[in-house]
Amino acid sequence: MQAFPQLVFSGVQPTGNLHLGNYLGAITKFVALQDTHDCIYCVVDLHAITVAQKPSELTSNIREVTAAFIAAGVDPTRHIVFNQSQVAEHAELAWIFNCVARIGWLNRMTQFKEKAGKDRENASVGLYAYPTLMAADILVYRATHVPVGEDQKQHLELARDIAQKFNNDFLVDNPAYADGKGFFPLPEPLIQGPATRVMSLRDGSKKMSKSDPSDNSRINLADDGDTIAQKIRKAKTDPDALPSALEGLAGRPEADNLVGIYAALEGKTKLNVLQQFGSGNFSTFKSALVDLTVAKLAPIGSEMRRLQADAPYIDGVLRDGSNRARERAAKTMSAVRDIVGFVR
Ligand code: TRP
Repeated sequence: MQAFPQLVFSGVQPTGNLHLGNYLGAITKFVALQDTHDCIYCVVDLHAITVAQKPSELTSNIREVTAAFIAAGVDPTRHIVFNQSQVAEHAELAWIFNCVARIGWLNRMTQFKEKAGKDRENASVGLYAYPTLMAADILVYRATHVPVGEDQKQHLELARDIAQKFNNDFLVDNPAYADGKGFFPLPEPLIQGPATRVMSLRDGSKKMSKSDPSDNSRINLADDGDTIAQKIRKAKTDPDALPSALEGLAGRPEADNLVGIYAALEGKTKLNVLQQFGSGNFSTFKSALVDLTVAKLAPIGSEMRRLQADAPYIDGVLRDGSNRARERAAKTMSAVRDIVGFVR
């Protein structure tokens, strides 16, 4: 039983080249949750600087993510869209969480090991503490549900551990919390299905990635219709026709990926797609995929470019969202200061 009111929180890093994988894996989920939940969507710029960023690129990447949210259908008036650095309470709660989390817990984080690579001594302290800031992002609103990719599951487990330890350490002798409900909820992941794992268009065994040197490996959300069509037409395939059953996709990562993209964009299962196109010519399927992808994404891309050209509008959305977020976060922090025993 969730004793806390349901609240969705998620964050996206402003690191540039937002692509189809981000759209299907995260942004479409954010859009769908708006109908059933109170939602807060955050552009996590404090997380972005855990690795080196060029200031001017960071600025435009923050606006790019914001534009993508809005172009895809996130409503910043009914919900909250803002950037993390404008709400200082995130960093403040992260400090307290740095004193709750154990070094041993952070040492187990696989993403730190991957990102720091061999030269761990030279990674920033911020990169190491990344997961405690992520826990603070969620818990400063006492959010209960967090749509994230599979790769963030471990960080979310850490957020639960931190919430649990905070509740245990600080509330046992506090009569105001004698009901045992705790101060922080234990936030639950809403994990995307495997169907939305979008792979590179050049190599079906690699995830579609912002950092792939080949721009043809990904469909950027800001691409125009012609560029999208060209990239899909050039996408790697194999010489066989499409199968009519799922088993027929085994060992065919490129075909599997394109069928998965079609299914996700159309809101169908892969089996539905194979029933429609199976055993037909691959090029028939590819033309249909070109049409579908262009129809779904080109309008989002053009709206994104229009919004990105209007920086004062985007910045106004973020400022308004930040003001509303700060109001909520400040309430949590007042209570946290009392619970910890600070004088105010
Ligand atoms: N670490 C997440 C990612 O890279 C981004 C993120 C930061 C986040 N804070 C968050 C996601 C809070 C969900 C909730 O994808």
